[in-house]
Amino acid sequence: MITPPRILLCFLVLILTWNTHANTQPQQHAIATAHPLATEAGMAILRKGGNAFDAAVTVSAVLGVVEPYSSGLGGGGFWLLHRANDGKQVMIDGRETAPLAAHRDMYLDKSGEPIPKLSIDGPLAAGIPGAPAALAHIAEQYGVLPLQKTLAPAIKLAREGFMVDAYYRRMASFRLTALRADHTSAQQFLLEHQIPPKNHRLRQPDLANTLQALAESGRDGFYAGEVARKLVTGVRQAGGIWTLQDLQRYQIIERQPLIGQYQNARITSASLPSSGGVVLMQMLNMLGHFDDLDQQNPADRTHLLVETMRRAYQDRARYLGDSDFVDVPLNHLLSPVYAKQQANSIDRYKASISSPMTAGKPEGADTTHFSIIDQQGNRVAATLSINYPFGACFVPPGTGVLLNDEMDDFSIKPGAPNAYGLVGNQANAIEPGKRMLSSMSPTFVETENQVTILGTPGGSRIISMVLLGALEAIKQTPVETWVNTPRFHHQYLPDAIQFEPHALSENTIIQLRSKGHKLKPLNNQYGNMQAIIWNKRTNKMSAASDHRGIGKAVIFPATD
Ligand code: DON
Repeated sequence: MITPPRILLCFLVLILTWNTHANTQPQQHAIATAHPLATEAGMAILRKGGNAFDAAVTVSAVLGVVEPYSSGLGGGGFWLLHRANDGKQVMIDGRETAPLAAHRDMYLDKSGEPIPKLSIDGPLAAGIPGAPAALAHIAEQYGVLPLQKTLAPAIKLAREGFMVDAYYRRMASFRLTALRADHTSAQQFLLEHQIPPKNHRLRQPDLANTLQALAESGRDGFYAGEVARKLVTGVRQAGGIWTLQDLQRYQIIERQPLIGQYQNARITSASLPSSGGVVLMQMLNMLGHFDDLDQQNPADRTHLLVETMRRAYQDRARYLGDSDFVDVPLNHLLSPVYAKQQANSIDRYKASISSPMTAGKPEGADTTHFSIIDQQGNRVAATLSINYPFGACFVPPGTGVLLNDEMDDFSIKPGAPNAYGLVGNQANAIEPGKRMLSSMSPTFVETENQVTILGTPGGSRIISMVLLGALEAIKQTPVETWVNTPRFHHQYLPDAIQFEPHALSENTIIQLRSKGHKLKPLNNQYGNMQAIIWNKRTNKMSAASDHRGIGKAVIFPATD
């Protein structure tokens, strides 16, 4: 039997080994974001003496300006922070909340059926934004620079404009009808009701003023005063239900991230109201029972991964919701006993069948992720969203703030699929002030020698992408490789393996079919992963921005 002092000794030996071989400070900075202008703005702030948290404020704000289809002040997100000097790890939950006047059946018609698009387009689709409060909080509690400095690049880009690129055009064309339907959105994001041409300079003066108010007055610059009044007036005039009280009472929440272990790695990821960490840990806990995972041929390995995805996503649909409102059986879902039971239910030769609940198909959409590490080792993994591309396609006049359509992430009717085909039930039903369940999964993966920071947009597919990335990071596959490798996904319902072009070979497809899997080849790629690896042994950094997007990853030396 191991006596307590012996355990202590083991820990000491571990710590000593880690310290003798591993560097504690990277002495370099790295940033990976979905847009070059955001990466450059983050670099500039680090060069001006800001830390990773200041850079996160800058990058978040700039992304909201230059990727208006992905995130912004009108949305929310999760910022996973690691502070180097004391090792504090925290998740800033800036998720949107349901307005106080929201109710369970607000998107259903008289016969109880979902009214198409009501939770996607227009002000009724918008939750109360969390991003502005989160930025103010991060700046105050973790940054070293004032918001005036960290928001300056975003204010400048909003005022002076940025060049429209092909990606912007693609996103705008996806949402053209909805953008045209709102006069203010059309003015801000289109040119005479058409998609602006490439290299058109898109200026957002109202947004610049709102950012300025946030820079000058902190959270009150958004949630109180003139901006708040304009937001509420605009929303209500267009049929929405926001009140000033909704804005005043919005609070970010500092939450303990979810921490798990897989092989020799410690995984830190998003806690509820994101399902990301729970689903990720459940999958890893199950996979822990398959020591031979990487000795399998591609079809058998894919099969095992798919079966763990199916089970974890099923629990997502059944049990997960905002734990401040509903009881979520987390201890059970994350227990070793349950993981073993679920792993045992996997037949290596045969696909399980997802018990029926109606489900739709996920569609292409947007959101954004960035990863940052500074020279001291402070880190940020942040996934931010306004949900669908260009969110609700609604801008309250005079604010420049494009509102989210995150209300669609609630389960608007038990079993009815949302925009990503995800189903849910009572745990994720709408309630006033409640946060809608998310899949956003900013994640750290740490082994003795390596720190990985990763995340991606992609709706329901976020969590499976992070799983595939994390498994490769643990195997020490180069970051460029796994960020860009074609991906596959299963989310319980619809009961099919979705996969990007070239993700599965013909032979693998045949073998998976013979096990009973349904396969759904996708025409498009998905995801936009931004990842950084710090090798603590060599003190080398590597970073990658997904080739599916237009982002940029940089590594640069510390200035002093
Ligand atoms: O919070 C969520 O899970 C979704 N609103 C994220 C949407 C998303 O990633 C769309 N991106 N492709």
